[in-house]
Amino acid sequence: MSGTSLDGVDAALCDLRSGLVLLRTHYQAFTEGLRDELLALHWVGHDELGRAASVANRLADLYAQSVEGLLADAGIGRGEIAAIGCHGQTIRHRPRCGYSLQLNNPSRLAERTGLTVVADFRNRDIAAGGQGAPLVPAFHEAVFRDRDETRAVVNIGGIANVTLIPPAAQAFAPTRGFDCGPGNMLMDAWCREHTGQSFDCDGRWAASGRVPQGLLAAMQAHPFFAATPPKSCGREDFSIDWLHGLQPSRFRPEDVQASLLELTAWSIAQAVGVDAKPPAQVLLCGGGTHNAQLRTRLAELMPDSRVNTTAVAGLDPDWVEACAFAWLASQTMAGRPGNLPDVTGASGPRVLGAIYPA
Ligand SMILES: Nc1ncnc2c1ncn2[C@@H]1O[C@H](COP(=O)(O)OP(=O)(O)O)[C@@H](O)[C@H]1O
Ligand SMILES: [Mg+2]
Repeated sequence: MSGTSLDGVDAALCDLRSGLVLLRTHYQAFTEGLRDELLALHWVGHDELGRAASVANRLADLYAQSVEGLLADAGIGRGEIAAIGCHGQTIRHRPRCGYSLQLNNPSRLAERTGLTVVADFRNRDIAAGGQGAPLVPAFHEAVFRDRDETRAVVNIGGIANVTLIPPAAQAFAPTRGFDCGPGNMLMDAWCREHTGQSFDCDGRWAASGRVPQGLLAAMQAHPFFAATPPKSCGREDFSIDWLHGLQPSRFRPEDVQASLLELTAWSIAQAVGVDAKPPAQVLLCGGGTHNAQLRTRLAELMPDSRVNTTAVAGLDPDWVEACAFAWLASQTMAGRPGNLPDVTGASGPRVLGAIYPA
C-alpha cells in the first residue's frame, strides 16, 4: 500500500487462511525526489504520459524491494505466498469522469518478484457506477464487526474515511462508509511549506496555534462536507491551492495549522455522528493516530463514544490499510467481491481488480 500522504510503501505479510493474522511488516519511505515527482503528476504538466510511465516503473521496483525485504525479514519463501495485493499510487481520482488512476506496473512487479499480483482495485467498482472508494469498509466489517456494539472505524491517512459497522446481532443493517475529507494531507502540506518538516510531529505545532473562527468556517464551507454519500475525495478536491484561495496569509501559520487539524477532527466527528445514536466505540487507524493533538480533539468532539485505536481490537493501526489490500487480493483470488455497494454506490457487488499471474 502507498497512500495519498505520499510518505512511502507499507508492506504487510498476512495469513488469511482463517481470519487475519498479521505476520510481518516492512516500511520503505519514498525518497524526496520520488515524492516530488509523484506529487507533480497530480496536475497537468509537460510529458505527463512519459513521466507517469517511468515513475510507475520506479514504483513497481520499490514495491518489489519492499516485498523482498518483507519476505527476508520473515524468513518465508515465495512458495508460501498466494499473491501480492498492490494498490498503486493514486495520482487522479475522478469517479465522476469514470476513472481513478493508480500508477503501477503490476507486470513488472510480478516479473521482479516471481509472484502473482492483484492490482487496479478501484476501476471495476467505478465502471459499475460506484465511487471506487473507499474500498476498506468490507475489510473493516470482516475484521472489526462486534457482536453487540455499533463501531466506527476511521482511517486517517492523507484522506480520512469512516466505516460504520452495525453489530452482528443486527446483520440486516448494512455497513456504511465514505470519505470524511482531508486527513493528514493538508496539515502535511502546510507544515512542509512553513517549517520544512514533512509532517507536524504529534500535532505540536497545531497545538501552539489558535483557531480563527472565520478561517475554519470558510474551510467547512467546502461543498464536499455537505454532500451526501456515496462520496470520495482526493488531492484534486483539497489541494494546497484550495487552501491558498482562502487567503491563509492573513493569519499566523500556526493558527492555520490549528484550523486544518480542527477541520480534520470536525469532519471525522461529523461523519461518525451521522446517526441519531452515536457508535459505542470508534476505532482509529492510519498515520493520523500518531497525532496526539488530533486524538485529543477527536475524543473531545465524540464524547458519547469510546475512542480507541484498532490496537484494542487486535490490529496495529499503522498496518490496517495494507492488510486491507492483502484481504482484497485474497477476495479477488477466490472470486469473491471486494466492494460494498452501499458504500461506493456501485450497482452491485463486484470482484475487484486484475490478476497478473506469477
Ligand atoms: N508522529 C506523528 N505525528 C503527526 N502525524 C503523523 C505522525 N506519524 C505519522 N503521521 C502522519 O501520518 C501520515 C502517514 O499516514 P498513512 O496512514 O501512511 O497515510 P496514507 O495512507 O495516505 O499514506 C504522515 O504523512 C503524517 O501526516
Ligand atoms: Mg502511507
